[in-house]
Amino acid sequence: MKRFFYPLALAGLLACSTTQTTTAPATSAVLATPVPAATPVITDKAMVVSAHPEATRVGVEILRKGGNAYDAAVAVQFALAVVFPVAGNIGGGGFLLYRGADGSEGALDFRETAPAAATRDMYLDQQGNVIPDLSTLGHLAAGVPGTVAGMAELHQKLGKLPWKDVVQPAVDLAAKGVVLTEKEAAGLNRTTFFSPARFELPGEGQMEWGDYAKHLGKSAAAFKKEGIEYSGPSSQDLAALYNPYKRPSRGAWQPGDTLRLRGLARTLERIRDQGRAGFYEGTTAVLIVQEMQRGKGIITKQDLANYQPKWRTPLHGKYRGYEVLTFPPPSSGGVALLQMLQMLEPYNLGKAGWHSPQATHWITEAQRRVYADRATYLGDPDFGRVPVAQLLEKPYNKQRMASTLPYRATPSAQVTAGAGLPAYESDQTTHYNIVDAQGNAVSCTTTLNGAYGSKVVVAGAGFLLNNEMDDFSSKPGTPNAYGLVGGAANAIAPGKRMLSSMTPTILTKSKKVALVAGTPGGSTIITSVLQAILNTIDYGMNAQQAVGAPRLHHQWLPDQIDVEEGALLPAAKDTLQARGYRLNPRAPWGRMEVIRVLPGGKLEGGADPRGDDSAQGY
Ligand code: GLY
Repeated sequence: MKRFFYPLALAGLLACSTTQTTTAPATSAVLATPVPAATPVITDKAMVVSAHPEATRVGVEILRKGGNAYDAAVAVQFALAVVFPVAGNIGGGGFLLYRGADGSEGALDFRETAPAAATRDMYLDQQGNVIPDLSTLGHLAAGVPGTVAGMAELHQKLGKLPWKDVVQPAVDLAAKGVVLTEKEAAGLNRTTFFSPARFELPGEGQMEWGDYAKHLGKSAAAFKKEGIEYSGPSSQDLAALYNPYKRPSRGAWQPGDTLRLRGLARTLERIRDQGRAGFYEGTTAVLIVQEMQRGKGIITKQDLANYQPKWRTPLHGKYRGYEVLTFPPPSSGGVALLQMLQMLEPYNLGKAGWHSPQATHWITEAQRRVYADRATYLGDPDFGRVPVAQLLEKPYNKQRMASTLPYRATPSAQVTAGAGLPAYESDQTTHYNIVDAQGNAVSCTTTLNGAYGSKVVVAGAGFLLNNEMDDFSSKPGTPNAYGLVGGAANAIAPGKRMLSSMTPTILTKSKKVALVAGTPGGSTIITSVLQAILNTIDYGMNAQQAVGAPRLHHQWLPDQIDVEEGALLPAAKDTLQARGYRLNPRAPWGRMEVIRVLPGGKLEGGADPRGDDSAQGY
């Protein structure tokens, strides 16, 4: 095995050890935060956990009809595109990890790609500065969507039920309309969507929104009768009817309002009837390209036709007797998660106590170091060499942690990526878990990137486009929307996949699935998945406690620990601050979903209480 010398880790140790250390504080275990009680959902055979009760219900129905976990995944993915527009999608992408009951496994990458016309400096002005919002808002922020191709590929390889049967529930949901929850209504009210006054329907020419309403066979009065807020015959109001996510012209969305999604229902029908061609060719493709032209976007018909999902080889690691299966690049999450687990295994986290200063200290120092590595080494493996094997070598990670001081934070300014490795050459997201009655397991994270993605609705097709281009590094060293910095490894190039933090993960014990986990949350995804694993394995929490417990997060830069309310006792905060940690109180993040397979075979589900998430099964 090739060995590396890690002078930087050693340099960090020397630099820090000559500065300041503190003496051991009184035992930190007494400062451990009590774990909030929570009751999980328990089922005998099968379970789905997703961000929305309707999507979970659809998944369970598919399983009851004899579909397997992969059929259910397709159905849940399309249902989320309807009922959970903030992140569920057909205009985005994602990563799906599976582990079959027969021990088979796979990692399906349906991440978006940069359009062919994308360039490295496309978000920079003439002075080389990042132009605010260009990579996050509007048409230029969108990557070529991968979701529909990914679902078609998954179904073709592993599905059991006919394709039409697994897409139909989403068509029905869109046709019926979606009753808004309080959180969804608030999200829509906070968002300004792009909404053109005119668009062209293939074969039918240019039309105003009013014509389109007629085209759908509905007059404004008919819409009103259905309970949709409607204040007059202006084209703007009609646009609001068809751009279904737009706030009503008078007032705001209220919980219990119904969002009618006729355009989306038609798009889903095309996908149901034509498979991937129903999205990447024909009417939907024309509508996407028209939308691009209207908003000076760059996705072309060719980009859509060329899009391909990819099967990757899952990463394997070990933690306290469990086999950890997780996602490889272009996810940074799997590598970072396995690095952190290696770094933390030598420490007795359980004895130190949950969110005690000592455990928080060790965990933060591991997080800080892997995010520094992430910024330097991780990118699309099809465009350069990612030194995955080296990053996952035990001696490397041991050396990285060697610079950790016992009772003092290591300033991030003194931590850079580990040296000696071959260089890379060249909020919102959502997650669902499924275990079926045969024991097949799916862990899938899917995303538009920001809440409602680029806020661009494809006119006439009724779905939102992602703003995933912001996950590239627009300019080395300049933070993206998640405050993440990146380097050349994650620079923009045509056809390239932007680096992701999505970390779908499955743990097995004695060759049987033991834990399925994942979450949205941008840069916080990786540390949240880590905490779900530590919460269950090191701290003995049930699935619901593990997902509900308040979280902590450090990502190297900015040099601070983000702290959810209730995550640390006041005395633990004092101790950490005395050790040099900067604590940053932060609103709740992530929507963690967990399924545990209990020793007797029953399933235990945890759905994140921060959202409308739901665990159901039988
Ligand atoms: N867009 C969030 C991620 O992929 O990490």
